[in-house]
Amino acid sequence: MCGIFGIINDEKKQAAQTVLDGLKKLEYRGYDSWGIALKTSDSNEILLDKHIGKIGNAVTNLPTGGTIAIGHTRWATHGGVTDANAHVENYQELQSELRHKKHQFISETDTEVIAHLIEEEAKTKPLFLATLTAFKKLVGSNAIVVLDGKTGEVVVCRNGSPVVLGVTKETTYIASDATALLDKTNTVYFMDDNEAAYINKSYIELFSIDTEKAKKLVLQKIDWKAQAAEKGGFAHFALKEISEQSTTIPHVLLKRSKALSEVAELIKEGYRPIMIACGSASYCGLAAQYVFADLGIDSTNYGGYEYAPFARLATDKTLVFAISQSGETADTILAVKEAKKRGAKIVGVINAQGSTLERLSDYLLPVEAGPEIAVVSTKAFTAQLATFFALHSVIKNDDPSTFINEFSNWIQSKELHKTILDCAKHLLKSEHIYLIGKHINYPSALEFALKLKETSYIHAESFASGELKHGVISLIQPGTPCIVLTAHDDIYKEVISSAIELKSRGGMIIGVGPDTNQAFDFHIKTHATGNLYSIFYNVVVGQLLGYFVGVGRGADPDKPRNLAKSVTVK
Ligand code: F6R
Repeated sequence: MCGIFGIINDEKKQAAQTVLDGLKKLEYRGYDSWGIALKTSDSNEILLDKHIGKIGNAVTNLPTGGTIAIGHTRWATHGGVTDANAHVENYQELQSELRHKKHQFISETDTEVIAHLIEEEAKTKPLFLATLTAFKKLVGSNAIVVLDGKTGEVVVCRNGSPVVLGVTKETTYIASDATALLDKTNTVYFMDDNEAAYINKSYIELFSIDTEKAKKLVLQKIDWKAQAAEKGGFAHFALKEISEQSTTIPHVLLKRSKALSEVAELIKEGYRPIMIACGSASYCGLAAQYVFADLGIDSTNYGGYEYAPFARLATDKTLVFAISQSGETADTILAVKEAKKRGAKIVGVINAQGSTLERLSDYLLPVEAGPEIAVVSTKAFTAQLATFFALHSVIKNDDPSTFINEFSNWIQSKELHKTILDCAKHLLKSEHIYLIGKHINYPSALEFALKLKETSYIHAESFASGELKHGVISLIQPGTPCIVLTAHDDIYKEVISSAIELKSRGGMIIGVGPDTNQAFDFHIKTHATGNLYSIFYNVVVGQLLGYFVGVGRGADPDKPRNLAKSVTVK
C-alpha cells in the first residue's frame, strides 16, 4: 500500500515536479494524502509540500532547480487522513520507548516512529548505518526511503513492500512499482526483502540489511511499453483495460511456454494442485477448480488469509498456484511461504514483473496482461483465468480458436456497450443486487458482484443458483434486481428455472447469456461458446456493468474509495 517515488540527480533540475508526476502514476496505490520532500541545492534545508486527498491534477509549489526529491502517496492504515499524518506493527512499543528518550511526536501515524528511530540511531552512527539499525527494529511489511538533507544521499530499505530502482546514465529513480518508471527507463532493479540501497549522485550500492555486507547489483530490462500505462484516449484506465481483453485473453490462451508444459507434466505425474490467492484472484482460483475438475483432477482453492489451518496438509506433492496481479499481496505471500516450507512446488500466475511471489515461484506462468493501473482488476483477472484454460488445452489437447474469434468480435461491439449502458441506467438507484450462476458461472457471479461492489458501491451478492431455495430467496422483493448468468451448457434449464423462481417472487431479472428467455426483463447477449469458456463473457459483462453503474453514480472506477491496488499488509 502507498506509493513511493524518488529521484537522485535529475538532469533537468525538476526533481519536485518529476516526483509529482511519478506519484500521479502511483496514485492507484493509495489516495488518502500525498507529500514531496525536496533537497534544496544551495542549503542543507529540505522543503516540504504535503496535502490530504487524491493527487489528481495537483501542482506543487516547490521550486524548480532541484535535483533530489522523494515523495509518497499514502493509503491510511494507522492514523486519520489529516494534514498532520502522512503513513509498523510494533509502532506503539517503539513510540513509547522513544517518548522516554524525549522524542516529541507530531502525528498519529506509524511512519513517524521510523523517522524518530533513525534520528535516535544517527546520534551515534552515520545515516546509512542508523537507517539500517532502525529498519531492523521494525516489525511488519515496510519499504522506506530516507533523504539526508545535508549531503543529498538517499537510503532505501525493503522488507515485504515492493521497491524498484530505475537507472539511466545520470539519474537514479526509486518507485514502488515499475509502471511509474516506464517513461523514464526500462533498466531496473527489483529490490529483494532485506536489501538496502545507498544512492548518491554518482553511484548505487546494494547491501544485505542483516549482514550489512555489500551485494552485487544486477540490473534487468523490462519489456512493458510506457504507452501501456497511459489512458490512450479512454475516459478511465478501467475502460481501457476492459477493452484490452480482446487481445490479452487470446494471447494467454494461445501462448505455449516451456513452463506451461512442465507444469502440465507435474499434474499428469500426480502433483495435486491447490490455488492460493485473494480477492478477484481467488475467484480465478475457484474457477480453476472447475477447470481442473473438467480434466478429472482434484484441486482446492484457498483464500491466502484462510490458508494457515490447512498449511499442514501441504506435502512435496502439492503444486501451489500462486495467483496474483501484483505478486505482492501479503496474505498470499505468507500462505505460499507456509506451503513452500512443507516442500510444495510453487507455480506463479502473476502479472507484474519482478515481484516477491515471482521470486518464491519454482515455475512462472506470467500472465502478460501488461500494466493494470485501475485499482479494480479486469484484464489481469481474465489473463490469470486464461492461464488455467491454456493449461487445460495443453493437457486435453483442445483448441481455443473458435472461442477467441467470437469473443474478440463480441467484446469490441458497440451494441454490447449500448445494451449494458441501458441496463446500467436501471440500476443506478438500487441498494441491493443479487446474482446467481452455476458451476463455472458461480465464480463468474462472485467476480461480477465484486466489480459491482468496488466500482458502484452497491451491495451485490452472489449465490450458486442451487442455493436459492435453501434460504436466500427470502431476500427477493418486488423490483429487486437479480442477475442470472447463463451459458449454452447442460445446466442451462436448471439456471433458467432458478430465474423463474426469482421472477415469481417479484425479482427484476437481468439475464446474461447467448439466448433470451421470457423470464428475463432485460437480456445482455453473449456467445454460444460451450460450458467453461462462458466465464469470460459473463465476467466481462460484470466489468462493463460495474463500470457504467459506477460512473453513472459519480464514482471513480479507477480509484474506488478505501481500496489500494496492492495490499502489502496482513
Ligand atoms: C479486485 C481486486 C482485488 C485483488 C486482490 C489481490 O478488483 O483487484 O480483489 O484481486 O487484492 O490482489 P493481487 O492480484 O495483486 O494479489
